Amino acid sequence: GSLEEVALPFYFGWFLLSSIQDKIKCTSMDFLKTLDTLEAFKKHLIDFSGKAEEVDLEQYFQPTGILHCTTKFCNYGKAEGAKDYAEKQAVKDSYGSIFDLSLSALFVTPRTFGARVSLTEEQLQLWPADAEKQAESVPAAASLPLGSRAHVTLGCAEGVEHVQTGVDLLEILTLQQEGQQGEQVEEMELGTLTYYGTGKWLLNLREPISAPACFSSFYG
Ligand code: A2P
Repeated sequence: GSLEEVALPFYFGWFLLSSIQDKIKCTSMDFLKTLDTLEAFKKHLIDFSGKAEEVDLEQYFQPTGILHCTTKFCNYGKAEGAKDYAEKQAVKDSYGSIFDLSLSALFVTPRTFGARVSLTEEQLQLWPADAEKQAESVPAAASLPLGSRAHVTLGCAEGVEHVQTGVDLLEILTLQQEGQQGEQVEEMELGTLTYYGTGKWLLNLREPISAPACFSSFYG
């Protein structure tokens, strides 16, 4: 009936516990601050501002509220596959459980700032089979491994929608899969920083950040 239809959430996902949210916000702001000062970054500033002018990355990306990793965007049932997802046994069984997410990389583009999430086999049970294929602007992403899109949005440039973060991650991973090594520009304390062209930066974390997160949903 109609009651069941409105019962579908805006999205399902893992919501990071508040203790780790603060730590990630600090680490990610420190990273932006450092990135901003690197000569290699300044060399490619034009990607960000359209001019060779300085940008303050901490101001450039608008904060996003509660940190989470979306599994399924349902749009209250209007999104394709929303009902099937909500009815999956794994989704019902895991609802309200705490998982340990592994944040394995940070990435920055002129549009978005995010953290890549490397999902375990167990966590992949909650990942929609078509999440990578649904990024229509990155057709090659369809052949990436399941879960490639998993991420936490840390910030978006003004006027950019949050959904763009996963698309930007898929673009970087597609370049990697096509054999583009990128340009390894810097060994930072946190890990290796690589430039993939047109404003795409990826920092592979030497030590992944372990983030406890509750699998739940957001109604808004
Ligand atoms: P993301 O997970 O990359 O942050 P919004 O903040 O725009 O209202 O969206 C709510 C959440 O759902 C965000 O986490 C957002 O992206 C994700 N999202 C929004 N639209 C889509 C979409 N079309 N496909 C997948 N995820 C989406």
